[in-house]
Amino acid sequence: MVWEGAKCFLFVPLFILVTGENCHFSNNISIVEPLTEEGALSVAERIDCHPEPDVSREKCESRGCFYEIVEEEGGAPWCYYPTGYGYMMLDEPAETHDGYMVHLRRSVSLPMFGGESQDLWVQVFFQTDNRLRILITDDKPRFQVPIEIPSLGGMPSNPEYTVSFTSSPTFGIRVNRRSSGELVLDTSLPGLVFSDQFIQLPIRLPTGSNLYGWGENEQLSFSHDMNWNTFGLYGRDQPPSGATNMYGVHPRLTILDKNGDTAGLLFLNSAAQEISLTPMPGAIYRTIGGLLDVYIFLGPSPESVVQQYTGAIGRTPIPPYWSLGFHLCRYGYDSLENMQAARDRMVMYKIPQDAQWGDIDIMERQLDFTIDAERFGGLAEYVRVIKEEGVRFVTILDPCISIGEPNCTYKPYDLGEQFGVWINKPNGEPLIGRVWPNDPVYFPDYTNLRTHEWWQILIKEFHDLIDFDGLWIDMNEPANFVAGDLNEGCAATATNYPPYLPHVRIDDAKNGLADKTICGDAVHATGDHYDLHNMFGWFQSKPTLNGVREATGKRGLVLSRSTFVGSGRWVAHWLGDNFSNWSNLRASVIGMLQFNQFGIPFVGADICGFIDDTTPELCSRWQQLGAFYPFSRNHNGLGNIEQDPGFFGEEIALITRDALNIRYNLLPYLYTLFYSHYTQGSTVARALWHEFPQDNLTRTIDDQFMWGSQLLISPVLTQGATSRNIYLPPGSRWFSASNFLDWTSWKEVDSGWVEVDAPLDVLPLHVRGGYAIPLQVPAVNTALSRSNPFQLVFALDNNGRNGEARGELFFDDGDTIDTVESGEYLLTSFMYNKDDEIEYIVHNDGWSGANLLFIEQILVVGCPDGVSSITVNGDLHSDYINTDGQLIISNLKLQLNQPWIIQLE
Ligand code: NOJ
Repeated sequence: MVWEGAKCFLFVPLFILVTGENCHFSNNISIVEPLTEEGALSVAERIDCHPEPDVSREKCESRGCFYEIVEEEGGAPWCYYPTGYGYMMLDEPAETHDGYMVHLRRSVSLPMFGGESQDLWVQVFFQTDNRLRILITDDKPRFQVPIEIPSLGGMPSNPEYTVSFTSSPTFGIRVNRRSSGELVLDTSLPGLVFSDQFIQLPIRLPTGSNLYGWGENEQLSFSHDMNWNTFGLYGRDQPPSGATNMYGVHPRLTILDKNGDTAGLLFLNSAAQEISLTPMPGAIYRTIGGLLDVYIFLGPSPESVVQQYTGAIGRTPIPPYWSLGFHLCRYGYDSLENMQAARDRMVMYKIPQDAQWGDIDIMERQLDFTIDAERFGGLAEYVRVIKEEGVRFVTILDPCISIGEPNCTYKPYDLGEQFGVWINKPNGEPLIGRVWPNDPVYFPDYTNLRTHEWWQILIKEFHDLIDFDGLWIDMNEPANFVAGDLNEGCAATATNYPPYLPHVRIDDAKNGLADKTICGDAVHATGDHYDLHNMFGWFQSKPTLNGVREATGKRGLVLSRSTFVGSGRWVAHWLGDNFSNWSNLRASVIGMLQFNQFGIPFVGADICGFIDDTTPELCSRWQQLGAFYPFSRNHNGLGNIEQDPGFFGEEIALITRDALNIRYNLLPYLYTLFYSHYTQGSTVARALWHEFPQDNLTRTIDDQFMWGSQLLISPVLTQGATSRNIYLPPGSRWFSASNFLDWTSWKEVDSGWVEVDAPLDVLPLHVRGGYAIPLQVPAVNTALSRSNPFQLVFALDNNGRNGEARGELFFDDGDTIDTVESGEYLLTSFMYNKDDEIEYIVHNDGWSGANLLFIEQILVVGCPDGVSSITVNGDLHSDYINTDGQLIISNLKLQLNQPWIIQLE
């Protein structure tokens, strides 16, 4: 039937195996009729040939595809590709110095969206033993994401993958894991399309695998439901709404195969794009710009995939120590008095707080770089006061600049004009939008180095006005309250109205891709907005961090709403304008886990919710969970009731204080996790399956999570619940530590599924046997807690003479830039070993402040009773208690940067 342009070239044999060392190809090219039959693919295997709405038989058949109404399959395509649809190899794959090059010719003549490329070049780069890159492009100039991922530059010696090329019924690449032979992915499916504004790559995933990732959106389960779900990506000012595209763009997937091996995929592309998941299992990738640039990270462990991924795209430097404390913010304090009142309540209840934030209401008419003299006149002085108390200040900047201020009275505009920093329309005039201050604005072009200079001058001068420690960059999707240019909208061109629109939210069809943002044909110094839209926040991030660092001379914090691949190098992220409801509380766990996989571990959601009024119960549970977000900030939206931890009275204040005291107790551990991220790429918050990939039961658990390998957090996420079911993976010992600060309450518990009590004031916490954790006695802020005594906890993996536990500590002054590079830090490790010795080793003693800090207490849990004597560096030490499988050693005075050994008899 409908198979027009029906000539198809086939290679024989059908598979050509390329392993890196050998490759055998056949020159045996023959021309045959297509191997296309209706029904050759099961319904679950079909690839949608009409991904846009309003399919009909006629439209379908005009593309050379099959049409069949499928009622019962819940989303299966009615229009699907014949098996031979795609490209054929014109030649044998040619060996290059680090991989292969294949020349393809389109095997179909009928168009999908027009501008289909007849010839393609596929380059396969064996980049490292664990990383493979597949680049597919044609001979037209195409936008390439300006992120350089270096490779070895030659064949790696021992690649963990094999690559084979398929020639029939259509061209494809198959990647297998060398160690297990298991499939990683296979593109030998119909439906490879490569055209001017529509590029599609269908991928078969391994049978029995789970798939994670792809954001930013609200995912209600971490492991994807593969039943025909589509997720579009296009940076958008958008509160969470299921699959709807939100602020950032991370085209990054993780495949956990049936053996427990993991692979990561990155589609390095910055255009509007989407992925459709099918029960094959399959993932159909589509983008409307750039080219196909796919990176495969072979792991095999979930953590090693993230390590390899962040090794390629860049990692988050160690955050300022204070930024790991608790942050308090709201939109709509509306006056300095209200801001002070919220902070005063923190002080009254002794709730830890490290930073006070100011939103756009501190500005004069929401103008960047200003402070409202009437409502916030005393802010600069107040900031001086709280800084003396040890509390920092962070404030906000929107990316756009008002053009409505009289000439020469608003420097951001005047200097911007002088420097020529704006994004222009194709006619060379600046594009005008409407954002805060809800007046006409220009959009700075952060791809332009001149704009960086301008932005950094303004940041520096603003810092002279108010002594901030960090900046919050908002609305940088970029958001726009009108579609395109305020006066002209967007021209009716294919750049502004592409023939295919990925599944991204568009409130008004007439806006096309400019819905809530600017036109695709807007001009940046380095290209069209069409290609750069999703990188707007990315381009703004580095100059903002540089600006903060220049202004403060310190490490600084930048929090960004829009992020892209590699943004973690400069910014932390919050999950945006969430709702004060239980479903958003639950989804925030998944959001946090996603961003840890995306390489932005410094992440959290607005605690207690941003939109709508919260409730005391929801806010309590949220403060408990939020105490374990890597980035912990209570932030509230305009017009809602107050929700700072002190507002609801003593009960909620104390619940919050308890949770935050545990966080503050754990800060040396959290800080060390960030060190592991920076130096090795590990996640900070991680799913259970990252630690237990062989345990199938962990694959779908996304309402519990871990901090590193050591600590399991099982927040209560249901209204009215006073207990919850949790899973403690067997094979490890687990110690319940819900009352974390009271060491006598820690008890070993059975593994498996268990119901645990969790009344409103309890957050179930468990420590894993085999690991040790560094702690420091908490205080109301880190300026104070950083001088407090340290403690070490050892949770033994075995309750016999041969129990072991080990951990690490990273510490420095918490504020100086690049201490890892300069060596000005302390790094130690500590272990409880099989000979009943506790040994403390100093690996790097580069920070003099450690001379003044001491370990004063040690807890060992899961150990046998009956210790009869203890020596510290050979001297008898009598302050210890050893009962009920616990050993508490007190009154120690062990300098943090001195090695020591404790022996137990
Ligand atoms: C939108 C941000 O997402 C929100 O956090 C902020 O409070 C408002 N803009 C006002 O600046």
